[in-house]
Amino acid sequence: MKILIAYGSRGGVTAEIAGVMAQEMLGAGVDVDVDVDVVDVKDLQDFSPYQAVLLGSSIWAGQLHPAFLRMVRGHEKALEKLLVGMFVVCLSLASEDPEICDRGEHYLDRLELDFPGIVPIVRGAFAGAVTMTTANLVHPSLFERIILFFVRKKLDVDARNWEDIRRFARDFVARVTQDIKN
Ligand SMILES: Cc1cc2nc3c(=O)[nH]c(=O)nc-3n(C[C@H](O)[C@H](O)[C@H](O)COP(=O)(O)O)c2cc1C
Repeated sequence: MKILIAYGSRGGVTAEIAGVMAQEMLGAGVDVDVDVDVVDVKDLQDFSPYQAVLLGSSIWAGQLHPAFLRMVRGHEKALEKLLVGMFVVCLSLASEDPEICDRGEHYLDRLELDFPGIVPIVRGAFAGAVTMTTANLVHPSLFERIILFFVRKKLDVDARNWEDIRRFARDFVARVTQDIKN
């Protein structure tokens, strides 16, 4: 069984999450051979080798990664025929304010509304991180405002819950295996 993890990431945080998910899938212990490719959406050409695709994007300024959206739009028909999982990575989920926290699910809802023919077998919303790479991509004052808004801290933040992320990857492989057998 060949699985693709296609991710959109600006600062590398979602890319790292995708890599860890792939390792977890390879060690998930399902009773079929699992092969996983992890590909930046910008480099993605062809879905034909894959039975299942996990789509993941970080959120910046309330939006999915533009290249991620372009990729989904461009391959919508192919994706409608595959087993698809979706995840987003954002800092809303690290907030103590429940209204901000809920935005993680809203980003996924919006993705589903925009592409109603792509019905995910699993969905995940994960708290992300802001790293020095991210910080270098934006103006320092904006960087500080973002951190303060989401997590009320002045320092860099890494809110990733690796156990949740790994569990999600295992669940995805288990669901795909089940669906392929049925
Ligand atoms: C300029 C900027 C804007 C952001 N906007 C949002 C946002 O609107 N909502 C949110 O939940 N997180 C937001 N974040 C947090 C990112 O989603 C988080 O840092 C994520 O882990 C980045 O992943 P990436 O490195 O893969 O791009 C923002 C981060 C930055 C630096």
